[in-house]
Amino acid sequence: MEIIIAKTAGFCFGVKRAVDMAFEYASSQGTYTYGPIIHNEVVIKSLEDKGIKPIETIGDEPVKNLIIRSHGVSPKVYIEGKEKGIAIVDATCPYVKKIHRYVQQYFEKGYGIIIAGNKDHPEIQGINGWANESCFIVKDKEALNELQLEHTNKKYLLVAQTTYKKQVVDEIVGVLKEKGIDFEYINTICNATKERQEEVVEIAKQVDVMLVLGSKKSSNSLKLFELSQRHCDKSYFIGDVSELMSELFNDCEKIGITAGASTPASVIQEVISFLEKITH
Ligand code: F3S
Repeated sequence: MEIIIAKTAGFCFGVKRAVDMAFEYASSQGTYTYGPIIHNEVVIKSLEDKGIKPIETIGDEPVKNLIIRSHGVSPKVYIEGKEKGIAIVDATCPYVKKIHRYVQQYFEKGYGIIIAGNKDHPEIQGINGWANESCFIVKDKEALNELQLEHTNKKYLLVAQTTYKKQVVDEIVGVLKEKGIDFEYINTICNATKERQEEVVEIAKQVDVMLVLGSKKSSNSLKLFELSQRHCDKSYFIGDVSELMSELFNDCEKIGITAGASTPASVIQEVISFLEKITH
């Protein structure tokens, strides 16, 4: 039996960096993460075992160190932390940080800021804070029609949520041009998601069974599973090795494995060890 493991399986650079930073603070008293560090119960539980819990707002707990997750936050959080004497451990993904800088600079120059993204996503809420919460957040080209953008003497900057689909952003660019809006577009889409999605399709097409490892709460893992199902009938979405049974692999010659951006390497390794055991 052959096992094909996706090169892009598991943590992206930004998530790995944030999780590593959180574990570095494991022995420090009074350390909290601002929201769950990632959508993965295994990682959250293991941080909780080491005394690091997520909080939703500053003020609920006696916080000494506050870890900002890879999604980033509004400047308000840094200000509030400083006022309360909290040490901020900034694990914002550098790619997200770059968006904060663009948005702040352009906002200060008087530009209106348009973000292509989901208004409820923490990354977008954080970015919005860098323009004093004045951003126009559009989920698709249709949403643009509801906006009252000024056509005279007003310039705009368009950026995108790092995990947004390029096609949707391209359509937004097209409509802004049609409307005659004076804007600059900075492509802030991160390739990590796209590459992972392309690879799952490529592997699912050539295997008998495809395993997608990730939490049911992780939307990027679910998306991988949906893509896998389109190309491999025997696709399974599993949280960890305890959900596997050797019967799933009867008469199977090739197995593919991928994992969402929030799936730890240990979960992937346990599944590989399980498969190696049943094939020997
Ligand atoms: Fe950063 Fe891209 Fe991951 S923006 S958090 S490396 S998906």
